[in-house]
Amino acid sequence: MLGNFTYSNPTRLHFGSEALKELASELSHFGPTVLLTYGGGSIKRNGIYDDVVAVLKACGKTIVELPGVMPNPTVDKLNEGAAIARENNVDLILAVGGGSTIDYAKAVSVATWYDGNAWETFWKQQQTPAPDAKIIPVGSVLTMVGTGSEMNGGSVITNHAEGLKIGKVFDERVMPRFAILNPTYTFSLPHYQMVAGFFDIMSHLMEQYFSNDDDNTSDYIAEGLMRSLVAASKQAIVDPHNYEARSNIMWTATWALNTLTKCGKTQDWMVHMIGQAIGAITDATHGMTLAAVSLPYYRFVCQFGTAKFARFATAVWNIPAEGKTNEQLAEEGINALEDWMNTIGVVTHSRELGLTEELIPAVADATIIFPAGYHTLNREEVVNILRESL
Ligand code: NZQ
Ligand code: ZN
Repeated sequence: MLGNFTYSNPTRLHFGSEALKELASELSHFGPTVLLTYGGGSIKRNGIYDDVVAVLKACGKTIVELPGVMPNPTVDKLNEGAAIARENNVDLILAVGGGSTIDYAKAVSVATWYDGNAWETFWKQQQTPAPDAKIIPVGSVLTMVGTGSEMNGGSVITNHAEGLKIGKVFDERVMPRFAILNPTYTFSLPHYQMVAGFFDIMSHLMEQYFSNDDDNTSDYIAEGLMRSLVAASKQAIVDPHNYEARSNIMWTATWALNTLTKCGKTQDWMVHMIGQAIGAITDATHGMTLAAVSLPYYRFVCQFGTAKFARFATAVWNIPAEGKTNEQLAEEGINALEDWMNTIGVVTHSRELGLTEELIPAVADATIIFPAGYHTLNREEVVNILRESL
């Protein structure tokens, strides 16, 4: 490992089918008023809401409800939540849901007591909250697996009026203090959301894996996580209630984006930048936007990092290397990725997400380009990748 890095992660995880039992002890660390935030109602239908509220009540908490967090949470919803949190002077924000709800809780945690325009400062200008900033602690009960938001500082907010979807990675003050991870909570996910999450996990691992040429432990960890994901995802699509498969996927998702596998890496993230730009314009499901652009993106950039793509083929997909050039192996590895994507059933054409030829310039404009793993894209290359993704 040649890179320098600091590793620290403050989130305490409680994992397993009995994990909610640990919520009461976590709540004892915080004051009496809890802002309970959640999405469009799935937690009421599957019973998770009732179970969480029962614990909150048993702990004597005052519950302030903030429902209606939409997939790809918006800046308007953020402003609404910050006003409610301020009015009620909440002591903890408890997010019950997927990445959108947890990202949203983090956003409210920094925006509530910030005396300015949080969207401009933290997302557009990517500033760090001041050392003495008042930040409300966040906890989470995870119901949708994929983003890793339960154990990271990421918070992605969409501004439809500006045609922008921007992620901000906050520091430890904003990362969830705790996360309840019960794999059975993911059983009620619709197939579309479930497999979108699977691809999101794979994408997080690939974004960190496809960079640098040194021999790095992070890459071996990522390969193991990818292999586990591939094996478990094939079981889960056949039998969504397979606890072993869903638990492995839940655990893999957390480690895929909790700062572990980026240690010592420069990383890539251009699939996410292009995918997020598609999301900003179409509001499509996050994991599907990544799936739609990944194959054209990797088929283009593999020429700049061929040895790593060859390693991906052998280490992740078990493709025999004998008698093959790195170029052949790289191609076979991406073909294997494509086969897996077709097996689990993710979207591989951005047209299915609402992208059209006419929208491509706007998406290219909304794509944040920075130095990536093996090649830094220019706008024309982004446009080409988007065209091929159609
Ligand atoms: O709103 P409800 O009714 O809860 O329904 C949700 C939503 O419609 C549903 N759902 C969640 N759990 C369910 C369930 N339905 C039935 N049973 C359950 N157990 O699933 C839908 C999608 O939920 P959402 O939270 O939007 O999905 P996801 O976890 O993929 O989060 C996506 C957001 O996270 C951001 C994305 O950009 C997007 O805004 N990301 C956050 C990251 C981070 N914090 O580091 C990194 C990621 O790359 C990503 O950008
Ligand atoms: Zn993602």
